Amino acid sequence: MQRLVFSILLCFVVTVPFLNSLALAEVVTCSGMVPMKYRNDKISVTDFGAVGDGRTLNTKAFQEAIYRIEHLRRSGGTLLYIPPGVYLTESFNLTSHMTLYLARGAVIRATKDTKNWPLIAPLPSYGRGRERPGGRYMSFIHGDGLHDVIITGENGTIDGQGEVWWNMWRQRTLQFTRPNLIELMNSRSIIISNVIFKNSPFWNIHPVYCSNVVIRYVTILAPPDSPNTDGIDPDSSTHVCIEDSYISTGDDLVAVKSGWDEYGIAYGRPSHGITIRRITGSSPFAGIAVGSETSGGVQDVLAEHISLFNMGVGIHLKTNIGRGGFIRNITVSNVYMENVRKGIKIAGDVGDHPDDKFNPNALPVVKGVTIKNVWGEKVQQPGSIQGLKNSPFTGICLSNINLHGATRPKTAAAPWKCSDVSGTALLVSPWPCSELANTHTTGECSNTF
Ligand SMILES: *[C@@H]1O[C@H](CO)[C@@H](O)[C@H](O)[C@H]1NC(C)=O
Ligand SMILES: *[C@@H]1O[C@H](CO)[C@@H](O)[C@H](O)[C@H]1NC(C)=O
Repeated sequence: MQRLVFSILLCFVVTVPFLNSLALAEVVTCSGMVPMKYRNDKISVTDFGAVGDGRTLNTKAFQEAIYRIEHLRRSGGTLLYIPPGVYLTESFNLTSHMTLYLARGAVIRATKDTKNWPLIAPLPSYGRGRERPGGRYMSFIHGDGLHDVIITGENGTIDGQGEVWWNMWRQRTLQFTRPNLIELMNSRSIIISNVIFKNSPFWNIHPVYCSNVVIRYVTILAPPDSPNTDGIDPDSSTHVCIEDSYISTGDDLVAVKSGWDEYGIAYGRPSHGITIRRITGSSPFAGIAVGSETSGGVQDVLAEHISLFNMGVGIHLKTNIGRGGFIRNITVSNVYMENVRKGIKIAGDVGDHPDDKFNPNALPVVKGVTIKNVWGEKVQQPGSIQGLKNSPFTGICLSNINLHGATRPKTAAAPWKCSDVSGTALLVSPWPCSELANTHTTGECSNTF
């Protein structure tokens, strides 16, 4: 008996720390941030006359189905099922308490008819369309003032047929700013998962003035030469969690933003509490970006476990004179990058202005940026950190970073470029500029600011 008690005790003593370490090793995810809802009330878009032949225009069916969800208000909300097939439609609005569910083989495809595309007001934090003055084309799938919205399914596709828009951009015949593929404004409790986004006319997924947004298990695809097809742009939004996704587009994969120059400063809506993890992708522009529109401020961003292939810039923090705002407490860690033009870039001279009314004295503050555990192969240029003379970037902390040049032919890694920056560096190869103090004596990359 005594021996039994003893062995139970021993077992307890041995397993508790073991279980603890298991718990620590558990994969962290976004789930729980917004509860997944299973809805009992289900309708199919085909009940409203939709035909998935790729030719029939189904705008009315989508609008009527969503009108039914909005006005019948079944408790627990309603699931709108999109069966296999190709459903051509014009842009449409979502409503609260709904799940848009795309079956395996379901495609919601945007019309190429750009002439009848609805226009909406510019975002107050931008003051005008991002590309053209005045209003802007409504996103293909749109929502304003919503909550409890889920877009999911069995990896069906939302296809923007963006080429017609990219060509208008190339030929400079755009009258207004191109539509996003999905934009949700002033909304909360949103889940976007298990969907493929393809050929967006402009940015793919744009949550703006939103909170509690989870985006996971998505695939976002657009050709590398498609203009401005950013993957996911959390903009003046809080508590956004993006994970386990593959993004390959013609512009930044994920870019955290918060408004543009004097309009963004006046609107004053920051982005904070943004988590980005386990993203793989490629693009001629940036992998993980903050900016360049950061006039409302961006803080508390964590990006980790990021794998980037055939990239322009691996990690890019960007702002400009006249932008105001701040970029604060940004952590990027555990990044693998391969075949990239530049590994890390933090710059104060990026992006254009909405108009000439911007205030040249509105200088951005960049403070507290930690980049650690980065491994790069075939990196043409390791990095540059170029602050502003009258607003130097401070608390920049680089640690455990290895950025190798091409191995065949073996090229010496190009040097870092820095100006108007202060901070620390530890175990960085090639060694960055003298503006960053070596902290090998203290061991940690200290980031007091
Ligand atoms: C969709 O929403 C936009 C912006 O909120 C609004 O201007 C438009 O009238 C709505 N369209 C329909 C068909 O309800
Ligand atoms: C959908 O794609 C994700 C990856 O993006 C994958 O994890 C998941 O298993 C797929 N789901 C189905 C039903 O095929």
